[in-house]
Amino acid sequence: MPILTEPLHLHSKHTQLSLFEDEQGQIRVAYFGTRLHDESDAMSMGCDQAPLLYSTYADSFSTPRNASGEYDLCIIQADGQISLALVHEHYEKHSLDKDRHEHIFTLKDPAYPVKIEIHLCVYEQSDTFEQWVSIHNESNTGIQLLRASSGHLYAKANHYFITGFRGTWGGESLMCETELALGHEIDFCSDTGTKAAQEGTPGIIIALNEPASETKGEVILGSLAWSGNYRLWCKHNQHHYLYAGVGLDITPAPYQLDAHSQFETPKMIWVYSDAGKGEASRRLHRWARQYGIRHGQKERYVLLNSWEGVYFNFNEETLYRMMERTAEMGIELFVLDDGWFGNKFPRNHDKAGLGDWEINHTKLPDGIRGLTEKAKALGIRFGIWLEPEMVNPESCLYQSHPDWAIQLNHREPKRERHQLVLDLSNPAVRGYIINVFRDLLTSNPDIDYIKWDCNRKISDPGSTYLDASHQGNLAIDYVRGYEEILRVITAEFPHVTIQACSAGGGRIDYGTLKHYHEFWTSDNTDAVERVYMQWGVSHFFPAIAMAAHVTASPNHQTGRSTPLKFRFDVAMSGRLGFELQPCDMNDDEVNYAKQALSEYKRIRPIIQFGDLYRLSNPWKNRVAAHMFVHGKRAILFAYLMDKWLADWPPKLKLQGLNPQARYRLTELNVDDSGFRTESHQRIVGGDYLMNSGLLIHWRRPLQSLCLELEETD
Ligand code: DGJ
Repeated sequence: MPILTEPLHLHSKHTQLSLFEDEQGQIRVAYFGTRLHDESDAMSMGCDQAPLLYSTYADSFSTPRNASGEYDLCIIQADGQISLALVHEHYEKHSLDKDRHEHIFTLKDPAYPVKIEIHLCVYEQSDTFEQWVSIHNESNTGIQLLRASSGHLYAKANHYFITGFRGTWGGESLMCETELALGHEIDFCSDTGTKAAQEGTPGIIIALNEPASETKGEVILGSLAWSGNYRLWCKHNQHHYLYAGVGLDITPAPYQLDAHSQFETPKMIWVYSDAGKGEASRRLHRWARQYGIRHGQKERYVLLNSWEGVYFNFNEETLYRMMERTAEMGIELFVLDDGWFGNKFPRNHDKAGLGDWEINHTKLPDGIRGLTEKAKALGIRFGIWLEPEMVNPESCLYQSHPDWAIQLNHREPKRERHQLVLDLSNPAVRGYIINVFRDLLTSNPDIDYIKWDCNRKISDPGSTYLDASHQGNLAIDYVRGYEEILRVITAEFPHVTIQACSAGGGRIDYGTLKHYHEFWTSDNTDAVERVYMQWGVSHFFPAIAMAAHVTASPNHQTGRSTPLKFRFDVAMSGRLGFELQPCDMNDDEVNYAKQALSEYKRIRPIIQFGDLYRLSNPWKNRVAAHMFVHGKRAILFAYLMDKWLADWPPKLKLQGLNPQARYRLTELNVDDSGFRTESHQRIVGGDYLMNSGLLIHWRRPLQSLCLELEETD
């Protein structure tokens, strides 16, 4: 007797996912796309070819073949057989509130004691679908997982265009779109264990029929909420279907799932749009601010981080002077980066001290208390850097617990940045790290912000804690241990803002962001290069979470000189911050910064909570431009990149405005090189700005525009 006697139509505001149970008791997908006027039309065609919602290795051989040899789950049973066949046993729906509806399908194998729950959560308002799976081993013996994906999508179109966001240190989220030819497969993965997103954010954009456009066409945007090894792969199969599988990556060794225990996959987030990728991003951003990012509806402070200003070279005096200048400029938070800890092994360079989280008394005799008191007296907040997952062999921690580092038997573990990775699968290590936070934050209750860094990948993947049969679990148990630490400290210190930094953008993913407020986008702080990276990041992540700092010119990474206005206009399109020695700024620069900062505070809600419209892509045009719209206000940012070439680029057509409204235009951050448009303080109709566009008088490369638009009543 089937459990689902009728098709199940799951709706969000604009999207529909229709499922049904077949005669064998398997759940199949009849439709995923624009919400239909008559939902039952979803069942009218082609249901005999409908793909499974979640498939096993055995399904990949069935007829019609589910997805041409592809599958989500593969298990080695206790008897050594690679065997699993699932039959639907139970369905339930939980409405968590008016917006969120979770559907749970329980499937069981009649031959083996294995149960699977497929969870599908529909977010009505933001048109976002979340899928994950829990695998329950109900037997008295262990089983092995060879693959346990979160799920897959199956699409049928004439052409498939796939955009990936690959990267490396100093060049994160570099987007690239390719057409996937018949029979071809494309794989986006990371096997680094930590800082996985530096190799590419675990997300893809799939455009059906034509290349992804900002404003039109069918686009599916997917993002995996996992900060460890992942695999996203798309295959254009011989039957002209596209299969897109998504999940954490278990390779190279199977994951041992013990008797009577369960394994939960990370969540896969899908957004469908029939109005291009601009709309898909906006839907995902809305979801993220409400559910995906910690405190995503609370304004972020403007901060100054000490790293590029002083690196390891500071003492109390240096920091006090920096903090005074920080407060004078109107910056709200001072963050002390690396270099403040270690006594026997002082952290005066990156070769020593990691793991010894005690204040360096020579550099900072008044301790952290001295710094937080100073901040309080200046009326600013205080934050501090930690890299809790790491240890330098030159540290007291390593001397007393060499076995806590990830390492292989009989081999010297490889160092990267002179450091080793602590084994977070080990509860003693997790307990140590949790206590580091407890000691630091309880004895210094005025610490408002933590920058959590993670500067190397895992090598030598062995654990002195896990037994021989569980060594293959290390990379996954590491991430679970990392998340457990975050759950504990965020519950105990809910007021502390946390930044995810991982040698720059190594942890830009929704697995991380559910515990963090923001991420450090890249160690490459050159404003020109940031335009490209921030453009890529914006496809998945809203500006409120994207830390963007004004740094010194020439830039420390690239040596490029850029105007101060350009640096401000780029950083202001994210969570604005500074990362330079403010005492080195001259009076003109300080005055300019003060003015821009006070403007940012005024327009901050538009950028941090507004809808993003990407207008001009820097990978394709000389001008990069995007705008934020929030109620009756909007902010436009435009940048002339490195070529002028004498002829002015075409007018810039705006988006997202009210065509009936009239807008007062005000140029912000104007420097002594003058206005870029003739529209300053003019009142212009939204329809004109969107249909005819704005003429910008570009005269030199690296000019930029920050334009405020406000509806007049
Ligand atoms: C890498 C980070 O990305 C930088 O911002 C800085 O915090 C350094 N680590 C400190 O070692």
